[in-house]
Amino acid sequence: MTLALRGVGHELRDGGEVVHALSGIELTVARGELVALLGPSGAGKSTLLWLATGDERPTSGTISWDGRDLAQLGRRGREAFRRETVGFLAQQPFMLKGVDAIGNVEWRLLGSTMRASQSHSVAQRLLVDLGLGDRLYHPPHKLSGGERRRVGLARALANDPQLVLADEPTAGLDSASGALVLARLREEAHLHRRAVLVVTHDAHAAEAADRCVTLQDGRLTGAGGGALASAETQAQPHSHAAAQPLPGEQPPGDVPPTPEQPHSLPGIPR
Ligand SMILES: Nc1ncnc2c1ncn2[C@@H]1O[C@H](COP(=O)(O)OP(=O)(O)OP(=O)(O)O)[C@@H](O)[C@H]1O
Ligand SMILES: [Mg+2]
Repeated sequence: MTLALRGVGHELRDGGEVVHALSGIELTVARGELVALLGPSGAGKSTLLWLATGDERPTSGTISWDGRDLAQLGRRGREAFRRETVGFLAQQPFMLKGVDAIGNVEWRLLGSTMRASQSHSVAQRLLVDLGLGDRLYHPPHKLSGGERRRVGLARALANDPQLVLADEPTAGLDSASGALVLARLREEAHLHRRAVLVVTHDAHAAEAADRCVTLQDGRLTGAGGGALASAETQAQPHSHAAAQPLPGEQPPGDVPPTPEQPHSLPGIPR
């Protein structure tokens, strides 16, 4: 199970002006690895992550999962991909207003085969693991930005996604909370054998990753196309060799569509 971007370019329209957000992107993220996507503000990181959700086709090139071009899946196929395979944390996570933290996570599991009590305990466990055990019943307006981000991450992980896409998951977190989040993301990759791609400005996140790739002005710099590309930057020495596949690993459950915006900037064409 591998996410593969081949020759991906993407243009955004800002009024009459065309913004070349991404050009010639070659990147793979394989099951079992945590890859950090770095780069300055405006480099195109959120755009790349959003395209990988399959919600929008790139202007050029292909994005595939498990060898299947997302553009060839059709609308329903892409919806199913997003619903069943992808766990996405947007840079500005969407929150259901007036719904407590645990409800915001349970929402991701509505329509799944899980009973309400199971969804509740899955959501609770995730929130506790991410350091929010004392915030389970707080509505979004009583959560800090960092707490909302962790609720968003819990929601992204709730459906056992095979592909985790997280936009700045440690932004605004203190070091202890950030360490919890990074430990969890490493576990998702190495223990649960998911493909994990994390956008970050956080040096600790880069250190926690198996590989780092850097975007600059919409292009990958000093980095190449994935697990087989020697040019990609190796992060810190790995004390965490990727775990072996877990016996009996289950495919993710069925969940309702939960589109999230890639970031707060309006007007990204869909
Ligand atoms: N809706 C939009 N319309 C036009 N241009 C956009 C839109 N959204 C983003 N852009 C432009 O696309 C480029 C890439 O934006 P993107 O949000 O992907 O950057 P980023 O690397 O995630 O930045 P940051 O680190 O600040 O989150 C930027 O030049 C940005 O101004
Ligand atoms: Mg961004």
